[in-house]
Amino acid sequence: MPSPESTAQAFEDRYGRRPDGVWSAPGRVNLIGEHTDYNDGLVFPFAIERRTWAAMGRREDRTLTVHSGAMPEPAQASLDELGPERFDGWSAYVFGVVWAMEQRGVDLSGRTGFDIMLASDVPLGAGLSSSAAIECAVAIALNDEWELGLTRRELIYICQLAENGAVGAPTGNMDQTASLMGEAGHGVLIDVRAETADPVALHFADEGLELLVIDTRVHHEHATGGYGARRKSCEDGAAAMGVASLRDLTEEDLPRAVEVLDDETFRRVKHVVTENARVARTAEVVANEGPRAIGDLLVASHASMRDDFEISVPELDLAVETALANGAVGSRMTGGGFGGAAIALIDADRAAEVEAAIEAAFADAGFTAPIIFVVNPSAGAH
Ligand code: ADP
Ligand code: GAL
Repeated sequence: MPSPESTAQAFEDRYGRRPDGVWSAPGRVNLIGEHTDYNDGLVFPFAIERRTWAAMGRREDRTLTVHSGAMPEPAQASLDELGPERFDGWSAYVFGVVWAMEQRGVDLSGRTGFDIMLASDVPLGAGLSSSAAIECAVAIALNDEWELGLTRRELIYICQLAENGAVGAPTGNMDQTASLMGEAGHGVLIDVRAETADPVALHFADEGLELLVIDTRVHHEHATGGYGARRKSCEDGAAAMGVASLRDLTEEDLPRAVEVLDDETFRRVKHVVTENARVARTAEVVANEGPRAIGDLLVASHASMRDDFEISVPELDLAVETALANGAVGSRMTGGGFGGAAIALIDADRAAEVEAAIEAAFADAGFTAPIIFVVNPSAGAH
């Protein structure tokens, strides 16, 4: 597991000098609220203890270099030649942040470049936002190094623009918001339209609970494929219903939606509308009754993604079903879908049993063995 010191040491080994500092940003788990963020909706994720560390040192010229412990080759760019067409592969998550800063008004003339060493224990492509963790770690590092004085809210938009414009993944900003605004022991209740991100106390252990992540190791890819298609269906559905975004619809609009929309678009819209309601309800239930009472909401969310939004895969369904059959309080897939991870809220004293049952079910089905671990709401980027 990387630490600030091990990351600083890796920087020194590579560059022959100490870094100016080490910054880190967490991955996230989404408790509930899937595909609501780009519909101006409600989301309830939390930052996890797994993080990406960035050791950074300024240079005297305009060159940018980055090494990652997860990648065999380093990458390089120049402050004089930044643009999505010049970015390639994983380093777009780093250089894209610099480009996005410029797009949002940061003057890069007269600035000097930097060297970065990245180290991470957020699994890549598992739906736990390893990509947002890089963007946010780089963004807060540069905010300090270049003394930009940007707010966390502005950094959210910069990191989202890096993902959308530089990487080309048409995502919302849940991941960046959770990574930048997360707090230990708290979920982050996000209202995308209102531009708020409020901490809500979330203590699983107080009720003898644990939140398991089941990484199915089925890799998802957001720059291509189903994610963009779902986003387009939502936009089409909103347009056909005559609203700016699906946030403007409530469950009371669904009888009209079923008349106006084709069956597939209706089911996409229904998921988003009911999911927003589930997020609001989950936040209330957590605050008033505690997390043990949210199980049914998690289960309903999964069913909606499986049947209406159609973003689950057999591995995710099996993880959820097996967790529930072995006494989980609630379970659902988390993140963008088409692979990635599920979560299961379980009694801590049954953890070993639930894990073994899921591993056995995956083996029986002939699926790759999942990676299962516990997560807790943790600190945001710092
Ligand atoms: P997720 O964010 O859910 O993990 P994405 O597909 O959005 O999945 O992002 C994963 C991509 O982010 C990787 O394929 C890689 O390009 C980049 N990435 C994530 N973590 C690292 C890392 N530590 N070093 C280099 N690149 C990384
Ligand atoms: C993520 C994406 C988020 C959000 C989520 C689905 O992977 O980055 O912005 O849309 O999928 O809720």
